[in-house]
Amino acid sequence: MGSTSLVFTFVIAFPFLLFIFQSDSISAYDSDYGRVNKDSKLVSQKVNLSVYYEALNPSCASFIVKNLARIFDNGLNTIVNLRLIPWGNAFLNKSTNAIVCQNGLDECELNTLQACTINVMRDVNKHFALIYCFEFLVIEGRYKEWRTCFSSLGLNQKPVLDCIGSVNGTKLEQGYAIETAQLNPPHTFVPWVVVNNQSIGKDYNNFTVYACMAYKGDSVPVACQ
Ligand SMILES: *[C@@H]1O[C@H](CO)[C@@H](O)[C@H](O)[C@H]1NC(C)=O
Ligand SMILES: *[C@@H]1O[C@H](CO)[C@@H](O)[C@H](O)[C@H]1NC(C)=O
Ligand SMILES: *[C@@H]1O[C@H](CO)[C@@H](O)[C@H](O)[C@H]1NC(C)=O
Ligand SMILES: *[C@@H]1O[C@H](CO)[C@@H](O)[C@H](O)[C@H]1NC(C)=O
Ligand SMILES: *[C@@H]1O[C@H](CO)[C@@H](O)[C@H](O)[C@H]1NC(C)=O
Repeated sequence: MGSTSLVFTFVIAFPFLLFIFQSDSISAYDSDYGRVNKDSKLVSQKVNLSVYYEALNPSCASFIVKNLARIFDNGLNTIVNLRLIPWGNAFLNKSTNAIVCQNGLDECELNTLQACTINVMRDVNKHFALIYCFEFLVIEGRYKEWRTCFSSLGLNQKPVLDCIGSVNGTKLEQGYAIETAQLNPPHTFVPWVVVNNQSIGKDYNNFTVYACMAYKGDSVPVACQ
């Protein structure tokens, strides 16, 4: 590992460590819509920001690491419900019933790893920190070292590994496959970004503008000013 990338890793990873430790105090911003609490009005004003992607695609890795990650610095994370859907251009071969991923078997494994990470670590600050780390390693060509992300962030990998090896991992991917197939209009490339049910197509790097326009609440973050 070159010293530049080492510095980059620490500079970038540091804010996420802070988010993890603060995460109890920001539970009002929990992305879990199933949870009914006194802050449900706050939650209902949030803008859904859905990112359909696949783990080994370079455009997706770059979007997540260099662009999407900024929402945790500029406050956009306080007004969006970030939903990551790791499936992308994968499909089911109907004659074998096997999942075929655009970038091979490794990508299928990494997609499932990320689906399980999202499912096990409900807190978006935690699962995004991990997915950021996985995708950073993709950019560096070291994605096979994904286990190091758990240790460097101090997060327990066991529940995620259990999920990958169980029917849960398969079920999660099936759910993402269905959700991706139901996109209207259907996705034509990845990353495919949808803001409140509206695809923004090739303008995906400008997602902030669209999320701010869709936001109806009063707590306007710096990102929207
Ligand atoms: C599905 O799998 C069969 C058997 O391995 C293979 O011959 C066929 O080309 C596959 N179809 C697609 C669309 O990948
Ligand atoms: C699978 O999911 C169920 C329901 O969420 C959970 O209770 C169970 O512990 C999970 N099993 C594994 C191996 O992750
Ligand atoms: C956001 O997505 C949730 C389901 O994940 C849905 O219940 C809610 O209506 C959506 N909100 C908007 C503004 O589209
Ligand atoms: C989302 O968009 C689809 C297709 O355009 C539509 O059928 C569905 O009703 C929309 N959902 C919401 C909550 O707006
Ligand atoms: C999207 O970004 C490009 C360049 O960053 C800019 O020229 C364009 O006006 C932006 N579109 C919107 C809708 O903000």
